[in-house]
Amino acid sequence: MAKQIALFNHKGGVGKTTMTFNLGWMLAEKGKRVIIVDCDPQCNLTGMVLGFKDAEDFASMYGSDAVTNIRDGLAPAFESRPALIEAVDCAPIDGPPHMHLLPGHIGLAEYEVTLGVAQQLSGSLVTLQNLPGALHYLFSKTADKYNADFVLVDMSPSLGPINQNLLTTSDYFIVPMFPDYFSAMATESLASILPKWAAWAKQSKASPILQEAIYPFPDKRPKFLGTIIQNFRIREGVAAKAFKGWINEIKIGVQEKLIPVLRENNMLLPDELYIKTRTIESQQTQFNFVHPDFVNDTIISQPLLQMSDFNSLIALSQKHKAPVFDLSDEQIDQQGVILANTKGSMERFRDLFAVGADQIITLTEDGRAIQF
Ligand SMILES: Nc1ncnc2c1ncn2[C@@H]1O[C@H](COP(=O)(O)OP(=O)(O)OP(=O)(O)O)[C@@H](O)[C@H]1O
Ligand SMILES: [Mg+2]
Repeated sequence: MAKQIALFNHKGGVGKTTMTFNLGWMLAEKGKRVIIVDCDPQCNLTGMVLGFKDAEDFASMYGSDAVTNIRDGLAPAFESRPALIEAVDCAPIDGPPHMHLLPGHIGLAEYEVTLGVAQQLSGSLVTLQNLPGALHYLFSKTADKYNADFVLVDMSPSLGPINQNLLTTSDYFIVPMFPDYFSAMATESLASILPKWAAWAKQSKASPILQEAIYPFPDKRPKFLGTIIQNFRIREGVAAKAFKGWINEIKIGVQEKLIPVLRENNMLLPDELYIKTRTIESQQTQFNFVHPDFVNDTIISQPLLQMSDFNSLIALSQKHKAPVFDLSDEQIDQQGVILANTKGSMERFRDLFAVGADQIITLTEDGRAIQF
């Protein structure tokens, strides 16, 4: 059964889409079968992967008779059609074998209101009973069709009903962050919203109406894999120091505010798994000054990945629909020392993404991970 991982932060522009694409690619390079899913009506992921330039490009995909995107996939449930939801015909990615895109739809936002009503009534209305389980059913069907190991879900920056649904019906979640005041604030709001969502999901799992639906609400309790901190505007001197300060703030916020809440709500993996996977170096530094009672939480609050600015690699990556760590010399199109420098930083990002992907594989392969 595929493992579904949500990349979630209601704060915008923190690297959710970039990470979904790059991590998905690295997991696929490591031999995993991966589907990346665009659940954001902005459709950035779809636009980038398929090289779409404008609304007309999207329109040509939406006009197909086949089920080619998330909205077509959900339509049987949301438009009360007699047909069952079926797997999406995913778009192949010009990259490692077994990596696919489940494309997004600009009109997905139109289903959000209906889903919100269905979720608020939490299964008291039979006519809306098929909606809360529909997204997960669609992803499972599609994952089965492609025999996927991982489904990576790229989400919009919002706390709306679709995200509530996606997060609570995933097996795991990752929180991309940017080292600034807004991400530090976001940690607090996550700590306040996640228990509410978890409580709602628990209630939905217990609802006979939602369980008797054609697409029953799945029995999940998503587990936190970690944060990804992208300090992509880091610069020499003062600014770099300011960013370091925010990175620290975020780690402390995650440790003191988010992790206790996740622990209370059974949204953490067993401690040993984090201890096993977080880098040795970060553990040692932390052991030096942290009270032993807090050691585990300190380790869990260490980011899964911490990345610096991709610089020119991000633009090249988007242009060539390739990850920042896998651009050919022709795609980089530089010479001499400049080319050598760019390739050097590309290799460093390759190593980082490889470490991130390995952690994800280890954290999610343990049988005890799916405990409720
Ligand atoms: N490490 C990085 N270095 C340089 N630029 C980056 C880095 N990560 C992301 N970016 C750029 O920052 C912008 C925001 O990234 P991205 O679109 O992945 O964020 P997002 O969280 O998905 O945004 P949204 O909330 O709008 O969906 C993009 O233009 C992306 O190219
Ligand atoms: Mg995005």
